[in-house]
Amino acid sequence: MHIALQACSARHPSAQAEAPPALKAIDLVLAQGGQVAVIGPSGAGKTTLLHLMACALKPTQGQLLLDGRDPWALRTAELQRLRGQLCLAPQVPPLPPRQRVITAVLAGLLPGMSLWASLGSLLYPRQIDLAETALARFDLAEKLFERVDRLSGGERQRVGLARLAVANARLLLVDEPLSALDPERARQACASITAVAREQRATLVATLHHVDMALQHFPRIVGLRDGEVVFDLPTAEVSPERLTDLYARHPDELTGAAPPLALSVADAPAVALTCR
Ligand SMILES: Nc1ncnc2c1ncn2[C@@H]1O[C@H](COP(=O)(O)OP(=O)(O)OP(=O)(O)O)[C@@H](O)[C@H]1O
Ligand SMILES: [Mg+2]
Repeated sequence: MHIALQACSARHPSAQAEAPPALKAIDLVLAQGGQVAVIGPSGAGKTTLLHLMACALKPTQGQLLLDGRDPWALRTAELQRLRGQLCLAPQVPPLPPRQRVITAVLAGLLPGMSLWASLGSLLYPRQIDLAETALARFDLAEKLFERVDRLSGGERQRVGLARLAVANARLLLVDEPLSALDPERARQACASITAVAREQRATLVATLHHVDMALQHFPRIVGLRDGEVVFDLPTAEVSPERLTDLYARHPDELTGAAPPLALSVADAPAVALTCR
């Protein structure tokens, strides 16, 4: 899916009147199949940006175009159809506690199903192989029939990510997918997310606190701060100085901020640059 944000601003409906907009006149273009990581300090507007692209939040100014169409100008049925082509993986996946993992993963298929097929899938999940293969990508295949409330936080997060692999969406929006994962699982999850997007020819936007993972796995990085794009660059051009500047007021969120100053970008993948 092709995405274009033209001078897009956004504010949360429950935000206080005097609060600045969460996003301020953002311009961003992403080609079909493009992959971008959005980084920046807490409160920068990363999640808000994903919600805007997911058509969950309407721009207060400017325009969002998905495949050249303004979703907010569509009829309700068309907007629903469009939303069915998007898959948003929130940081904490909303999984019903008593649900089996297989059902939770196959829920990724629901937007493309009829009402009766979705009810059938919820009651008697059939595509076992599909769910198992998706879970295996996140090293969780053995939990296929486990109940969600018996999983650890990291395992639940990976169930949410496995949904992406079955969703067959045209736009994957992933919010902080690594926050509950250990370094090796984080690396594997990042590699799997980007591989799934490539295989499905989907456009991928992921917000990441793990700057090192963003640099290793994504070809393009958008640095966001105070609702504004500070830089939008191919990964090779994201210098340690830019990163230090992006997190200047919150250096604690860029742990390992001292070493990158002496690093070349080529060395960056080897360095622990983990935020929060
Ligand atoms: N539901 C909400 N209601 C009101 N204001 C909100 C809401 N969610 C976020 N905001 C505000 O919007 C701004 C951007 O928040 P957002 O969640 O997009 O930041 P973020 O970059 O994702 O931060 P984090 O790294 O902590 O997840 C912040 O100033 C925040 O206080
Ligand atoms: Mg966020």
